[in-house]
Amino acid sequence: MTDRYAVIGNPVGHSLSPRIHAHFAAATGEDLAYGTLPAEAFGAAAERFFGGGGRGLNVTLPFKLDAFEWVTARGTVHGAARDAGAVNTVAVSGERVDGYNTDGVGLLRDLEHNLGVGIAGRRVLVLGAGGAVQGVLGPLLDAGPGRLTVANRTVSKAEGLAAAFSGVQAAGLAELDAGYDVVINGTSAGVGGGRPGIQAEVVDGAFCYDMFYTLDGETPFCRWCVASGAARAADGLGMLIEQAAESFFLWRGVHPPTRGLARSLAA
Ligand code: ATR
Repeated sequence: MTDRYAVIGNPVGHSLSPRIHAHFAAATGEDLAYGTLPAEAFGAAAERFFGGGGRGLNVTLPFKLDAFEWVTARGTVHGAARDAGAVNTVAVSGERVDGYNTDGVGLLRDLEHNLGVGIAGRRVLVLGAGGAVQGVLGPLLDAGPGRLTVANRTVSKAEGLAAAFSGVQAAGLAELDAGYDVVINGTSAGVGGGRPGIQAEVVDGAFCYDMFYTLDGETPFCRWCVASGAARAADGLGMLIEQAAESFFLWRGVHPPTRGLARSLAA
């Protein structure tokens, strides 16, 4: 029987995940169907989906914290999801319920494997201190940066993350100066067409990565970084694909091919 998966969120209509997982299923020959699950509340929708035989959910805004609590009450939350208090992948098999967070793996795989940007020993700056950033700090620290600074518009939130993740330093956006090898935008400023307000010298000569993405051209952050002297900039479409690939692996035990998929999604 065809196994059923979905992405749950609000809104979820424009999610690329169904296209990505359809590509993975076709490439690996796995017999599965992957749809969207629009929901008002995570718990009721998840109960219905899994009660009807569903095997796995990807979780997007605004439900990652709800999914963490739901899985914690029924099963096991693993690794980065436990550190972050946020689940983006749920797997159900019989009585067994597991929760994971594949965002950090996706970010690291895109940076290190696809883009050839190593983190070990490098001076890394992460902009933003919300849920998206919290989900990737554990895997970033595991990659062994020489320094990891989290800077946020509201400094107290960056300080909260520095207290929770040993090895992280906190800063405000305005006080940043030069001296970073890798600058990662994890703010949601791009959603409104904006970018975090930092000085040009912060990105001068750095590799810049925007966890946000658009399918039509550059994100505002990438465009500004390149104009401000960054060595190179990339957006988060590769991260989206790689976190999906990790979810697919957790569900099916098969690593799907990801090469070339970003280009065909953007076409
Ligand atoms: P997400 O789940 O996408 O991380 P979030 O938890 O609401 O969403 O966090 C949004 C992050 O983007 C926060 O760090 C926010 O900064 P504040 O904590 O100061 O609100 C940051 N952010 C959003 N819009 C921004 C902007 N225009 N400039 C700078 N930072 C911004």
